[in-house]
Amino acid sequence: MKSLKYYIQTLLGKWLNSPIIPKDKTTGFSLVRSERSHTTLGKRAYAVEPYYLHNVQLGDYSYFAKNAQVANTTIGKFCSIGPNFCCGLGIHPTTGISTHPMFYRGKKAEHRQTTIGNDVFIGANVTVLDGVTIGDGAVVGAGAVVSKDVPPYAIVGGVPARIIKYRFDEQTIEKLLQIKWWNSSDEQLKQIQQHFDNVAEFIAEWRHFN
Ligand SMILES: CC(C)(COP(=O)(O)OP(=O)(O)OC[C@H]1O[C@@H](n2cnc3c(N)ncnc32)[C@H](O)[C@@H]1OP(=O)(O)O)[C@@H](O)C(=O)NCCC(=O)NCCS
Repeated sequence: MKSLKYYIQTLLGKWLNSPIIPKDKTTGFSLVRSERSHTTLGKRAYAVEPYYLHNVQLGDYSYFAKNAQVANTTIGKFCSIGPNFCCGLGIHPTTGISTHPMFYRGKKAEHRQTTIGNDVFIGANVTVLDGVTIGDGAVVGAGAVVSKDVPPYAIVGGVPARIIKYRFDEQTIEKLLQIKWWNSSDEQLKQIQQHFDNVAEFIAEWRHFN
């Protein structure tokens, strides 16, 4: 049975529209609505509710679909992140007597910073483990568990995630990483849009955009 404290907190939270939110005692996540702390959202960046975001920097135009649970993660611009994304939620050392935090809290690192580049597409139901770096332009297939770094423009999938293929050939990737189109002005973005279906043409024309 839920405690009286739970109902009082829920009512207060609703009435004050304040972050007084009952939490699941085991995970620390909100039971009733979204929670966000030490988090910055860039221009037009957003997260669909419900979400739990702690110490997250989300770049311009990037978004989380429903039910993102993300901590200690920096994410670049123009990233599309599918539903039920779990990222940077912590490390439980496996070499001690127990994996329970009671035994190591304050003595061992429980978190590592995770980094996701620009223009990264992450499918539904993906987990990214602490400390991983996902390169610019990468794609993570639905259902993957990403335990190692992902190179720029790689498409990875599976548990653990492995490289399936690359989005473009090596030379094209090199050029795109030099161009870094995601840092473009709004005016340049409009021009980029016109070349959406022809990457070679875009690379050839890019120097005229400035
Ligand atoms: C990863 C993904 C982008 C690849 O798409 P694609 O480039 O069209 O790739 P293909 O469908 O040609 O598949 C290439 C190979 O990868 C495999 N594959 C595709 N998706 C996979 C996944 N999620 N996990 C593991 N393997 C996958 C395919 O079975 C195929 O294997 P094969 O070469 O042995 O036949 C896509 O399959 C995917 O997972 N998209 C996410 C969809 C989603 O979550 N949408 C909601 C977002 S809001």
